[in-house]
Amino acid sequence: MSRQFNVAVVGATGAVGNQILEVLAERNFPIGKLRLLASERSAGDFLEFKDEQVMVEELNNDSFKDIDIALFSAGGERSEKFCPIAAAAGAVCIDNSSAWRMDPEVPLVVPEVNPQDIGQYKTRGIIANPNCSTIQMVVALKPLQDCSPIKRVVVSTYQAVSGSGQKAVDELRIQSGELLNGRPAECKVYPHQIGFNCLPHIDAFLENGYTKEEMKMVNETRKILGDAGIRVTATTVRVPVFYGHSESVNVEFEGPISAARAREVLSQAAGVEVVDDLANNDYPMPIDAAGRDATLVGRIREDESCDNALNLWVVADNVRKGAATNAVQIAEILVAEHL
Ligand code: A2P
Repeated sequence: MSRQFNVAVVGATGAVGNQILEVLAERNFPIGKLRLLASERSAGDFLEFKDEQVMVEELNNDSFKDIDIALFSAGGERSEKFCPIAAAAGAVCIDNSSAWRMDPEVPLVVPEVNPQDIGQYKTRGIIANPNCSTIQMVVALKPLQDCSPIKRVVVSTYQAVSGSGQKAVDELRIQSGELLNGRPAECKVYPHQIGFNCLPHIDAFLENGYTKEEMKMVNETRKILGDAGIRVTATTVRVPVFYGHSESVNVEFEGPISAARAREVLSQAAGVEVVDDLANNDYPMPIDAAGRDATLVGRIREDESCDNALNLWVVADNVRKGAATNAVQIAEILVAEHL
């Protein structure tokens, strides 16, 4: 029998944690023992994995004994504290939070883009999973970067509420019902009503006027694409969509690249599906990306206002490719090539 690996899922009861369990089962990841970890609130609850009920345990310093791979999705504070503890216990951590992403000793990996970086995990025992908006954008950018170096990216996002966790999914659902029935919306997760509204505000504001989410897109894109000289500017917006982030991406290249060439290259790229048939009103939409792992790219056109530039519309399921699937793909490469 081929080797099996003991896996811990930290934050198993959350939106991403739940999806990680689904993706591990779907892809038949070679799991020996599965340990589900969350806060004391969920300890003793049961979650289903492959028709079996697995009990949730409280995350603590002893949670990682005998664990080979720990998939973290319980927020930055937990990752900051417990990834080193898990790594010291011998587990390789795949961390979905932003805690370790920009650490020069931690690889930041999208398997379709920079799988070769995974091997750098050995120093700290941690591999970082990028921000959801960054993942789908670099999946679309990498095949184009291979045609001509990228000079500048201008991106605006339309991000689903599931990116803020299960509580935000519930907030949009409840607000929508209340508002349709003429009642006021109660705001707990976001500072303003998200039902039938858009908020140009994701994560905290910084001194430069950008949000943390916007700066994640700037810095993570450079790190993953391996080019610190790429100029990136982002505006990130929360929209009343449950699953699936959309992005308007304007890319300027060093040299010419036609829309036809971009379409051809993208249609052969790993993880990308070109959806770009204007005659049939066919373009990427979050309702089509939800529940899938492909990054959908469409509205591919030359920017008439700038030489050597293209416009793209990029859509993916933020909880799957933007988080859970990307983490499990990393784990697959880890077990195939490194453990
Ligand atoms: P719990 O369900 O016990 O609160 P989401 O991103 O959907 O909000 O999920 C967050 C995940 O992180 C949940 O699984 C949550 O567990 C977990 N979590 C939150 N706080 C802690 C904590 N202090 N210790 C361990 N897990 C935590």
